[in-house]
Amino acid sequence: MKKRVTSYGDAGFSQFIQNAFRKHLGYDEEDYEKPIIGICNTYSEINRCHSHIKPLIQSVKNGILMAGGIPLEFPTISIGEMFTSPTTMLYRNLVAMDTEEMISAQPIDGVVLIGGCDKMTPAQLMAAASANKPAILLTGGPMENGEYNGKTLGACSDCRYYWQEYKAGEVSDEELKQINNRLAPTAGHCMVMGSASTISVCAEAMGMMLPGAAAAPATVNERLRLAKETGKKIVELVKNELTPAKIMTKEAIDNGIRALLAVGGSTNAVIHLIAIARRLGIPLELKRFNELSETTPLLANLRPAGEYQMEDFYHAGGVPALLKEMASLLHLDVMTVTGTTLRENLEQAEINPAYRHIIKSMESPLYENGALKVVYGNLAPNGAVIKPKAVINPKLLRHRGKAVVFTSIADMEERINDPNLEVDPDSVLILQNAGPVGAPGMPEAGMIPIPEKLLKQGVRDMVRISDCRMSGTAFGTVVLHAAPEAAVGGPIGLVRDGDIIELDVPKGELNVLISDEEMEKRRASFSPPQFADFPRGYPSLYRKHVLQADEGCDFDFLLPVEIQKEKGEVG
Ligand code: FES
Repeated sequence: MKKRVTSYGDAGFSQFIQNAFRKHLGYDEEDYEKPIIGICNTYSEINRCHSHIKPLIQSVKNGILMAGGIPLEFPTISIGEMFTSPTTMLYRNLVAMDTEEMISAQPIDGVVLIGGCDKMTPAQLMAAASANKPAILLTGGPMENGEYNGKTLGACSDCRYYWQEYKAGEVSDEELKQINNRLAPTAGHCMVMGSASTISVCAEAMGMMLPGAAAAPATVNERLRLAKETGKKIVELVKNELTPAKIMTKEAIDNGIRALLAVGGSTNAVIHLIAIARRLGIPLELKRFNELSETTPLLANLRPAGEYQMEDFYHAGGVPALLKEMASLLHLDVMTVTGTTLRENLEQAEINPAYRHIIKSMESPLYENGALKVVYGNLAPNGAVIKPKAVINPKLLRHRGKAVVFTSIADMEERINDPNLEVDPDSVLILQNAGPVGAPGMPEAGMIPIPEKLLKQGVRDMVRISDCRMSGTAFGTVVLHAAPEAAVGGPIGLVRDGDIIELDVPKGELNVLISDEEMEKRRASFSPPQFADFPRGYPSLYRKHVLQADEGCDFDFLLPVEIQKEKGEVG
């Protein structure tokens, strides 16, 4: 292993001074000849999804020491979904940069990345891809199920569901308070198949986590044992020089997409997987999701597309059992962080027969295909994404209605419940200027609330279209990530109140029914917004460099140099 040494212009002196400072940890010089393993510590009391990870870090350290390595913990930024303003997605790239530079700049030979909350895991995978030192991902694991009045509660599908029912007058203040007490009952990340669970399932399917590590709840002792094993394995990976680029190949990314589709996972994972793939020089495009979606059954009966949650999925056998069931669709000869292939890893995997209702068979899936759909048309020439199995009213998947346009999130918040808003159940709600540049950071506002006056009439779903995202725990006939976004002149920004919008999910189409001439006329009068918010600092940098949703929302300057050259961004 080649050790990196800080440069003082005199190699001997650099080594001498580094040795002096290292001894303070109680290790001798020869100890540092062993594999040095960084443990990316994302402990945070603000990011409550990571507030329980200290024992996991200790177990990782135990494993590293058992395998003959030296563990060195280091901190990075830690962002939690519910507490980060204006939105965590604004900071995903910052976490990725922080993590990549720490991995690259510090004298470590390999790294264990401890993630969990929505944006942390994808950011860490992006960082691992670019730094390309041996790396294993470990999450803090999902929360246990919540419970209220004999019903399972899940964060945060039930946060949204019960809030909507409260607004409709169906849930009392006292009930809402009781539910609120129980929505996040234990340590861990959200326990439905939201973004956190989805990206950890993808990471395991791509070979970057140990088998079983995605679904084991935060509270089971198996997670500590997985942490210890992770520590042992990273030492092996370093010795064998098995880097992320050798694991996250094009085939492995396909496996990740297949897993995303088989669990009915979050639309956010589409953006993250594109970003991760591109970091590796793999030109993943939205159309690949449609191709794989057509031939991948939805097997996992998990909320919001199904009925159960991560704890139940764990008892069913978790990701190894799922992958075993769908093995005929996977590239099995890909290498994984176990040091063996996916095929070998799956030899021992099995579905718990008592939980067949959670991982369905290929012969009798929950749905035959179509967990995600990318729609194109004059409203989203570069694509927009919908999760057809998470809609409430499937009739809306083919729908024509008049646009009710909100020009920003603030405008939407101000007017959505106005009794005088001209809206009916057939209207199509359009939210503009909430994309990567416009918001900035593409917040999870895409599940536009149903106007209260319609809620009270019993309406629970409408067609909603935006250039922002929605939480993986959200649901409804919601079309997201319309690209290009309004703020850069995308056609979603050119829609006007009363335009007729046509959505045809089975055909993969999304159009505003105006003539090409009219569209051109509107485009000619578009002028880019002058943003008064975030005049300086990181958000300002973000706005200048973020790519569109169909390109993964990474920064242009973080792409591999070859891709930047292709895009003409470097000479
Ligand atoms: Fe962290 Fe949901 S808030 S995963």
